[in-house]
Amino acid sequence: MADFDVVVIGAGPGGYVAAIRAAQLGMKVACVDDWLNAQGKPSLGGTCLNVGCIPSKALLESSENLEKISHDFAAHGITATDVKFDVSKMLARKDKIVSDFTGGIAMLFKKNKVTAFAGKATFQGKEGAQYVIAVQGSEPLRAKHVIVATGSVPRALPAAPFDGKQVVDNSVALAFSEVPKRLAIIGAGVIGLELGSVWRRLGSEVTILEAMPAFLPMADEQVAKDALKSFSKQGLKIQLGVQIERVSTGKEVVITWKDAQGAMQELVADKLIVAIGRVANSSGLGGEKIGLKLDQAGRIEVDAHCKTGLPNVYAIGDVVRGPMLAHKASEEGVMVAEIIAGQAGHCDLNLVPSIMYATPEIAWVGKTEQQLKKDGVPYKAGQFPFMANGRARALGDTSGFVKILAHAATDRILGVHIMGPMASELIQQGVTAMAYAASSEDLARTIHGHPTLSEVIHEAALGVDKRTIHI
Ligand code: FAD
Ligand code: NAI
Repeated sequence: MADFDVVVIGAGPGGYVAAIRAAQLGMKVACVDDWLNAQGKPSLGGTCLNVGCIPSKALLESSENLEKISHDFAAHGITATDVKFDVSKMLARKDKIVSDFTGGIAMLFKKNKVTAFAGKATFQGKEGAQYVIAVQGSEPLRAKHVIVATGSVPRALPAAPFDGKQVVDNSVALAFSEVPKRLAIIGAGVIGLELGSVWRRLGSEVTILEAMPAFLPMADEQVAKDALKSFSKQGLKIQLGVQIERVSTGKEVVITWKDAQGAMQELVADKLIVAIGRVANSSGLGGEKIGLKLDQAGRIEVDAHCKTGLPNVYAIGDVVRGPMLAHKASEEGVMVAEIIAGQAGHCDLNLVPSIMYATPEIAWVGKTEQQLKKDGVPYKAGQFPFMANGRARALGDTSGFVKILAHAATDRILGVHIMGPMASELIQQGVTAMAYAASSEDLARTIHGHPTLSEVIHEAALGVDKRTIHI
């Protein structure tokens, strides 16, 4: 039996960050993780580093470069003929980025004196106030505090279970060794649009089948409308309001679906990515042995501070309520480590930015106009297009806009919505402003460098008071 102050189960962006922060605060910490990479070796970093955030962004970047050289460089007077690409090199570059980062976590653990265990962890029970955790292949661990950060797994479609070859999840879709000629995707969410964009740019004919009648219903309505137009123009075929009836595999994948008008349709593809959301990874943890409660969706029940109903047991990240995002998981990890150390940890779920890294990039924080209307909150909106911004014109990327929503009476910023170049970076300005309870006037009176994309945020803030300068 090995004794620790804190045992963290899972080394994704929730767990590894929690472990490092707890160690920084002087605790003796173990972190147990059971992820194995394609070579069957333990690999820290969870979904995000191994088969999520990082590899998807690596492939988005490579495929975007191909798109630019094939379509955009001519406008700069640069012609490239006989452009070729090598999928295996793209995948190798992605894999190297992933292994550098997963290895980097191992080094961070060493530096911070976090003891890593590779293997599946399960709760065994309690010894007094201590929890006992069995670890496959190692001696059991005992600790007063446990942080569960076991993440999530892809949701399978009952009509089309994953087979790892034709009907695949994100892991396989990030590693196709050849560009599928015909690629079908079920689910027009973040994975469908990001990975659909990657393979469309590399030459696949991509069709996305989405159950909801509206496109990106959680985004600002205007953003969603413009984004749908833009994705369709790029060649992504997006069908809304579909009902999947049957999926058969064999020489090819045949998807039978009912369209929004109720007519039966058939789609034939070489590969099918199922990206219909993810489910909390709470089973097989032995939680029932200590009385860990799950909600109806299988998530571990926690309060605003990620405390479960059990003394000194916390759960964070994708395995609990809230958006399934890496930065949310990490922030909860920091909060919990600080609470265990007797500090006042805090994580505001209203300030978690949502970002989609396709073209155009889409990012937002806070409320949408539709939510404010529904809640009866009086608001003012300021909006400014990238088209009227010098830096965006120089970049040759002028689609989209920034919209800022502020309370009609107090002027406090309630939401920031961005579609356009570098939305993923620009949104942070909105998050920071909202974290400090800024008003649109605060942003409007902040000097923004010129020429920068950030000036679009400045102008949108001026627009809340109807005093934009450049439009
Ligand atoms: P995970 O990262 O899932 O880590 C959980 C870890 O716990 C895993 O290593 C798992 O093997 C381990 N584990 C589970 N059970 C046990 C057990 N019993 N014993 C030991 N170990 C166990 N989010 C973003 O913010 N930005 C993005 O750009 C982004 N892109 C994504 C792209 C894709 C394709 C996918 C699939 C997801 C993406 N996400 C993104 C979501 C992000 O990956 C998750 O929100 C994040 O990884 C959740 O972190 P976590 O620590 O809660 O869990
Ligand atoms: P998602 O929740 O973003 O999208 C799933 C989509 O599938 C939804 O539009 C839903 O309506 C649709 N759907 C559900 N059931 C369906 C069915 N039977 N038929 C057709 N459509 C159906 O989930 P996704 O894309 O799988 O991603 C999982 C999670 O990973 C997301 O919640 C997100 O938080 C995270 N992620 C984040 C990224 C980022 O931050 N850039 C990138 C990729 C993933």
